[in-house]
Formats: sequence, C-alpha cells, structure tokens
Amino acid sequence: MPSNELGDHFRILTFGESHGLAVGVVIDGVRPGLALSPRDIQVERDRRRPGTSDRVSPRAEPDQAEIVSGVFEGRTTGAPICILVRNRDARSADYQALAELVRPGHGVGWLARYGVRDWRGGGRTSGRETVGRVAAGAVARRLLADRGVQVRGRVVEIAGIQAGPADWDWIDADPVRCGDADASARMAAAIRAARDDGDSVGGIVEVTATGVPAGLGDPVFWKLEAELARALMSIGAVRGFEVGDGFQAARVTGLAHNDRPTAEGFRTNHAGGVLGGISTGQPLVVRLAVKPTPTVGRSQPTVDLAGRPGATPGGGRHDPCICPRLVPVAEAMVACVLADAWMRRDAGDSEADAADLPTLRLAIEHEDDALLAALGRRMALSVRVGELKRKLGLAVQDPVREDAVRRAWMERAALYGVPGDLASDVLDRVLVASRDVQSSGDLEDPDSTR
Ligand SMILES: Cc1cc2nc3c(=O)[nH]c(=O)nc-3n(C[C@H](O)[C@H](O)[C@H](O)COP(=O)(O)O)c2cc1C
Repeated sequence: MPSNELGDHFRILTFGESHGLAVGVVIDGVRPGLALSPRDIQVERDRRRPGTSDRVSPRAEPDQAEIVSGVFEGRTTGAPICILVRNRDARSADYQALAELVRPGHGVGWLARYGVRDWRGGGRTSGRETVGRVAAGAVARRLLADRGVQVRGRVVEIAGIQAGPADWDWIDADPVRCGDADASARMAAAIRAARDDGDSVGGIVEVTATGVPAGLGDPVFWKLEAELARALMSIGAVRGFEVGDGFQAARVTGLAHNDRPTAEGFRTNHAGGVLGGISTGQPLVVRLAVKPTPTVGRSQPTVDLAGRPGATPGGGRHDPCICPRLVPVAEAMVACVLADAWMRRDAGDSEADAADLPTLRLAIEHEDDALLAALGRRMALSVRVGELKRKLGLAVQDPVREDAVRRAWMERAALYGVPGDLASDVLDRVLVASRDVQSSGDLEDPDSTR
C-alpha cells in the first residue's frame, strides 16, 4: 500500500490507526543541524487535539509527541525523524455495534479494495491519522521559518456563516478558530444547534503562506497548486480545493481577474500567489471545502455488509464540525509541500553545478536571498533583545554570552563547511551591528538613501 507517503525531498510517511497502539510519522530528507525539540512538535499537536472545546470531539487524548529518532541534543542528525504519539483514549468497544454495518459517509470502499476492514474507529481513514501530518508540519515549519515563511490558517465559513477579518492574536484562543469574535459566536451557536439536533455542519478553511519567494514549484505535473491540491485533498472530509479566487475566477472577466504586474510587484492577488505552477512572490492563498462530519448523534439508516437493512446507533464521540481541528492539519500540509518544493529547487540548483553558468548564478542568488533574509531576522531579534535588556536594566555587552555564541557559531560553521576565517569575520560584523541596534533600538531604514 504505497499511498502513505508524500513529498519528493521532504518526505513523510504517516503510520498508525485510530485504535492501534500509536500514530505518527517518519520524516526523511531533513538536513542535519536543525534545532528541533519535542516542544516544537507539541505546540502544533496541541492545536489539533480533540477534547479542547465543546465544538470538537470529546475524545480526550493527552497526545504527547515523542521523538523516537533523528534528533540528538536538540538538533536533527540528518537521519530519518520518527515522531510517535500513543493512543490512550481509544474506546474500541464503542465501535463494536458498527462492526458489521456500512457507516454512512465513511470509507466504505476499504473492504472492496483490500479485503479487510479495521472497524475500530476509522482505522487509517480516521481523523486521528492527521496527528502524524501535524507533527511533520511542525518540522516543515521550522525549516520554513529559517527562510522567513509563515503559514497560518483559519476557518472562514461554517454552516454558511462567513467570517470577517481575523484578529490573529486571538485566533488560537477562539474555539472555532476563525478570529472574528462576532462570526465566531454565531458559528459556535450553529455548531451547538447541529449537535443538539444530533446532526453536524461543514465549512471552509483558508490557509495563507506569507514570505514565499517567487520561483517555488515546477511546471506541468508538479505545479505548486497541483502539489497543494494533492496534499490538502488527502485530508479526510475535504471535498473541494481553491487557489486564489478559485471558483469565483470562473465568474469574472480576464481584465478583472488578471493581477497587473508593476515594477513594485503585482497590484492584486487574484491568482493566490501562483501562476504557471510557480510561486509569484505574493502570499499563497488556498481554501478547502470541508464536509459535515459523517458520524452524527442520531441513528442513520444503512445496510450491513451482506446488504440487509440496518441502522447506525446514535451517540458516540465525534466532532459536530471538523473545521476548527482541520486548520492545523491544513497548515501542516501547506508547510510540507512548501518545504518539499524549496528542497527540490535547492537540489535542482546544486545539480546545476556542473551544468551552466546562468543556472549556477541563479542558485547563488537564491542562497544570497536566504542569507539576507536570515540576517534581517537576526537584526530584528537583536532590537527586541535590546528592548528587553533596557527594561531589565542589563548591559548591552555581555562577554559571557558572546563567547557562547562564538563557540556555537564556529562549531556550526565547521559543520556547514564554512572556512573558519570567513565565519569569524562575519560573526565579528554581526556582533558589532547587533550591539549597535541593541543600544539604539533602531534598524536602519531600508528606504533611506544615506
Ligand atoms: C481532524 C479530523 C477529525 C475528524 N473527526 C471525525 C469525527 O469525529 N467523526 C467522523 O465521522 N469523521 C471525522 N473526520 C472525517 C472522516 O475521517 C472522514 O470523513 C472519513 O474518513 C471519510 O473520508 P472522506 O470524507 O475523505 O471521504 C475527521 C477528519 C479530520 C481531518
């Protein structure tokens, strides 16, 4: 069953069933030296976890992520990373009554395809499988954060109720995860009403990735939006995918839809950050239609495996709306696809070493881009450190800390094959600039002509 893997360079393989011992993911292709702790995984895992509000399944999984391999002393080693989460609150007996029944809206084709069926929960088709995806997404996010990319999602519609602009500082505290307090309250009421009626509702989830440079993705079968559609449509309960204006693009004219290019970039972003399969440098915007939860509180008419009429028992634990929990899963899939596309581009660039000068120069420009983006972020962090030091009454210069930074820097420079003199010179300049901004609290105005 070779269908459990995704990605070409950032490769993930999820494993486990909802009512087996554990679920998780194996990730291969991650470079050595990336700082990664169970905490990085846990933060994302907690956002997907059931039992966090009355809007989602009351199955109470503590969901502790364990890093089984590929990380030593807080850094990736380059070996496959295995992340495992044990199933502790699976009550298989709840599903005994369903063992011989066809469950409406669930993966009824498994038996026809494989001749066996794991009737406890949804087996591999369960929402629980997404635990491994979210763990992989946390690793992809660490890689992307180093490149200045931020991936974030929200619910934009539930039961036909549309959200207005989001308050991103509040969104993780919003049980509906839409970030618009008024719409959130109305969506929550609709979810409650559906649940009280023994029913369920669906909605739309949107994911945006900012900081994506122009030039990610490849033409034809590996178009970036095709890769995204494949990864996102593989999430249970997702029934539709749009990029940019999506289906709305079919209802307007070319003049209205085309994003006008200018010297400063595109005026609009109807394309959703991708044209011809390759990112444009605009924010990447995708949306997913999520169906109402198939398992509902009421009994549903069905047949048994022999085709005799029957009915599902009502009750049981289920999400009356999957959308809030699907947001971190969708973010994770977008992060995995972007990390993969980025690594494919880098691999292509380095393969071009022996090919031709223009491609090699382009590869160098890509690396310069990454270097400058990292430097910019480092300086911005220094400004914040300076603010904190002033608040705490601490001196800007801290020789002990600088020694520690220098030791770590030189060790890592050796790991990446950077000559010692170059690494030391660059660090000297970085430390001087860092002390300057810590003292003044200012980054040089990038638009200044000084
Ligand atoms: C995060 C998440 C949680 C889910 N929770 C439930 C649930 O509690 N009850 C349910 O019936 N389906 C749930 N689903 C949906 C089913 O897994 C899915 O609808 C089913 O396997 C059939 O697959 P399909 O909808 O992709 O065709 C969930 C899906 C996800 C992604």
